[in-house]
Amino acid sequence: MPILPPHAFEVFSHSPEQTRRVGIRLGSLLQVGDIVCLEGDLGSGKTTLVQGITQGWGSPSKVTSPTYVIVNEYDRPGGNTLFHCDAYRLQPDNPLDSAILDLDRVLADGVLVMEWAERMKTSLPKENLWIQMDWINPDQRHLILIPHGHRYESILKKLQQALFGG
Ligand SMILES: Nc1ncnc2c1ncn2[C@@H]1O[C@H](COP(=O)(O)OP(=O)(O)O)[C@@H](O)[C@H]1O
Ligand SMILES: [Mg+2]
Repeated sequence: MPILPPHAFEVFSHSPEQTRRVGIRLGSLLQVGDIVCLEGDLGSGKTTLVQGITQGWGSPSKVTSPTYVIVNEYDRPGGNTLFHCDAYRLQPDNPLDSAILDLDRVLADGVLVMEWAERMKTSLPKENLWIQMDWINPDQRHLILIPHGHRYESILKKLQQALFGG
């Protein structure tokens, strides 16, 4: 019996660099309208993964944790934006305040990567790429990537090929 849903897969990362490289591959597959949801405790590597995603997506800017500002925006040459949101300080499951994050505008214009997405689950689109991150030891993290919807199944198929071949 498969433990993971179809097209879901797991990655064991042995270093921050490896986590960033997974992010780079993923970021290069994202298109305007995509949403990536990150779930995992403090230190599980969410922001480290986002550094890779942003780089692979094409922004030259250095990603820092948006914990205090809630949303950071990263533009890429050519014109669209990666919105990096950290829901840690948002009221869990309140409707997303459009002053903080106007989802329609964000997804019309760019991609959204959300840390602590489990806190915002009721406000987020049902179709998304969900990534669960867990701390294993100081150097190692476990990632489970789960597609919700065909768009994300297709992203994960390509990502799996890019990471593992075949
Ligand atoms: N395999 C790994 N993947 C990601 N981060 C790792 C890994 N090993 C060690 N780390 C370290 O763990 C910390 C993760 O922090 P961060 O990415 O900010 O996590 P979060 O955003 O989930 O709180 C960083 O200091 C990073 O260097
Ligand atoms: Mg973080």
